[in-house]
Amino acid sequence: MLPTLNTAFIKDFITEGEIEAAAPYAETAHRLLGGGNGPGSDFLGWLCPSDLVSSEELARINSAAARIRQDSDVLVVIGIGGSYLGARAALEFLRSQSYNLLPGSSPQILFAGNTLGADALRDVIRLCEGKRVSVNVISKSGTTTEPALAFRVFRELLYSRYGKEEAARRIYCTTDKARGTLKTLAGKEGYETFVIPDDVGGRYSVLTPVGLLPLAAAGCDIGALLEGAGAAAEKYSEPSVYKNDACLYAIIRNILYRKGYMAESLVSYDPDLVMLGEWYKQLFGESEGKDKKGLLPVSMCFSTDLHSLGQFVQDGRSLLFETVLKVPPREDFFLKPEEGDFDGLNFLTGQGLSAVNHKAFAGTLLAHLEGGVPNLTIDIPAKDEKSLGALIYFFEKACALSGYLLGVNPFDQPGVEEYKKNMFALLGKAGYEERKKALEEKLDYLKSVARAEVAEKIKIAREFGDISENAEFDAAKE
Ligand code: PA5
Repeated sequence: MLPTLNTAFIKDFITEGEIEAAAPYAETAHRLLGGGNGPGSDFLGWLCPSDLVSSEELARINSAAARIRQDSDVLVVIGIGGSYLGARAALEFLRSQSYNLLPGSSPQILFAGNTLGADALRDVIRLCEGKRVSVNVISKSGTTTEPALAFRVFRELLYSRYGKEEAARRIYCTTDKARGTLKTLAGKEGYETFVIPDDVGGRYSVLTPVGLLPLAAAGCDIGALLEGAGAAAEKYSEPSVYKNDACLYAIIRNILYRKGYMAESLVSYDPDLVMLGEWYKQLFGESEGKDKKGLLPVSMCFSTDLHSLGQFVQDGRSLLFETVLKVPPREDFFLKPEEGDFDGLNFLTGQGLSAVNHKAFAGTLLAHLEGGVPNLTIDIPAKDEKSLGALIYFFEKACALSGYLLGVNPFDQPGVEEYKKNMFALLGKAGYEERKKALEEKLDYLKSVARAEVAEKIKIAREFGDISENAEFDAAKE
């Protein structure tokens, strides 16, 4: 069930001596984390997965999920960031990227509130037409605008379709135990609530009710997920870098960062892992991207992206290294012979597609190494709950250690808060009046700069006699 980190392909980029020299720092980081003495130590609840959800809470999640499975064709999961990505990543890893389209997938799990795109919201509403619907709204703060707006829309949809009482039975809130608008509303309207522990930040929360309720509703075994995480917690409690892959991975990232690599690409060869890449981007991006430091986390899905970004990875500016996730398919697909062999592919008869995919991996690995791209690989035993729980924990632990090695607090996200405050202010939310005034002054200044540029363009065009009938209008529009 545990993932295996393979470092054989970085030998040309990192020496044993470099790892040895960094090992004491990683061990210190490990000690700080374990002892709760490092920055952000109020947010270490995820470290011990068995304490994340009590057995009573787990039973309550499973019984809510059973109710949803019985009375709903669709569960709309509303949330953003850490209150969205983990659940979706796990659903697609365990079930399929095409889960909602496959026969027998019930309830469908639709996601809303992670964008302000009007069409996306309308599409989810349309997908609910003629279906029995329940809603799981997830927000730790209970105040994030995107999910709050979507929840308002779906609350109204449920109230008008089912009436107040039945609608309330179909709404499940996952939020803080005491604070926030969502908690207050849930108390007032009598919605069932699940608690996001105080000491678990959004991006570390997938193994709390945040991820567990939607996954249980989709029929996933959340007990096994936690069991996998528990096994990983035990394995990665080992302080020695040489016995702890999470520590080793953190060190290698840090050494490559110090050598000038600017980005890490999390690569998979299976589209069911695309959303896992999105989850990883939030985990590492929000944890490490601060104080003008950090590796940019990007993700790619091969072969698809070999035909888009592959050229850049191979021959473009040398700025990234790759961490490749490898996992066997749920069920292999075997190729049959074709009469006439018109496409010349009969030589692959009887081979599993996974063997072909493996050759794509091996060929790409050799090419990218040749192109000077360091490669790490992580083998995941299976697309099952235990392996996923262990993998999630592996990344969470490695991310925390990596943040400490980088010298940042891996548990805050001041940058995200900045945009939220700006948005509240610009929308005119009460309490943000001063910020609104300052931001509008800045916007007015930027507009005046833009206007001056337009005026300059018109002037130059006139000087060159190069101004068509509509040019002034077009320039002004610009
Ligand atoms: O990692 C984080 O804390 C953030 O990205 C949050 O997950 C995101 O902003 C959503 O916040 P909330 O759950 O409070 O609505």
